[in-house]
Amino acid sequence: MLKAPKMKLIHLTDTHLVRAGELLYGLDPKARLDACIADINRNHGDADLAVITGDLTHFGDREAFQALRQSLDALTVPVQLIVGNHDTNDGFREFFPDVPVDETGAVQSARDTGAGRLIFLDTTKTGTHAGWYDEVRLDWLEARIAESGDAPIFLFMHHPPLLLGVPAMDRIGLMQRDLFNARMTPYLPRIRHVFFGHVHRPVSGSWRGVPFSTLRAMSHQVWLDFSEETEGVPGSHEPPAYAIVLIEPEQVVIHFHDFLDDSRKFNLRDVEYGFWDEQERRLSAAE
Ligand SMILES: [Fe+2]
Repeated sequence: MLKAPKMKLIHLTDTHLVRAGELLYGLDPKARLDACIADINRNHGDADLAVITGDLTHFGDREAFQALRQSLDALTVPVQLIVGNHDTNDGFREFFPDVPVDETGAVQSARDTGAGRLIFLDTTKTGTHAGWYDEVRLDWLEARIAESGDAPIFLFMHHPPLLLGVPAMDRIGLMQRDLFNARMTPYLPRIRHVFFGHVHRPVSGSWRGVPFSTLRAMSHQVWLDFSEETEGVPGSHEPPAYAIVLIEPEQVVIHFHDFLDDSRKFNLRDVEYGFWDEQERRLSAAE
C-alpha cells in the first residue's frame, strides 16, 4: 500500500531575473518564473517548501530583486531562497529582509522538519563567480549539524561540492572544495542528499556516497560540453524545469518537470494510435 510522502519539496534554480519585461540571452526570465509558479500552484500547492538554489538575479540589481519579490508573492508554497554568485549586492536584503543570515551576514540558515534538518548554505563571495566556503562558514555549518543531534541532514547550496566534468562550470566551482570535503567527512553518513544549482544542467549522482542532484535553470541553460578548449560558458535554449522532491524515511524520489513542454499529451489507451489493442492481443496470445 502506498504511503503518503513525509515531505514534499520543490527545487528550482537559477532564475537569473533581470528587470521586469527585459530579456536575457533572448529569453524572458520573469515570464518563465511566473509560468513555473503558476504550474506549482496548480499542481503542487501541497508542497511543504520550495527552495531556489541561487542566482536569483543576473546582475544583482534592485529592480531584478523587486521583480523576483513580485513574482514570488504569487507562490502559494512557502519559499526558501539561497543566493548565488550573481546575487552579491544589497538588493536582496531590501526586498527579502526576512531571509535569515548568520552572524557574519552570510545568507545561510537551518530549518528543522519532520524529514530532518535542512541546511541552506551561502557559497558566494563578492567579486568572483567561483564558490566560496571558508573556515568561518564551515564552523557555522559544523555547529548547525552538531546541534541537530542525529537528525538526517539535507544540504542546499548554489555551488556543487564536487567537479562535474563540465570544464566551463568546474572552473568556477567551489574554491575550498578540498577543505569542504575534509570537514564534512565525519558527517557524510548523516547527509541524505545535496541539492545545488549553478550548473544550469540536469546532473545527478553521488558525492562520496551522498546522493546529489541539480537541474536545468529557470532561465538559459549551459550546453553539454566536456571540452577543455571551450572558452567562456557555452549556453543554450534548452527548456527550463523544476523538480518535485518526495522525501520519506527510507527514500528520496526526485521528479523533473519540463513545465513549458507543449508536446501532445494523450492516454496510452487512445485508440487513435491503435497500439494498445494490438499489444493487448499479443499479450493475451502469449499467455
Ligand atoms: Fe546561474
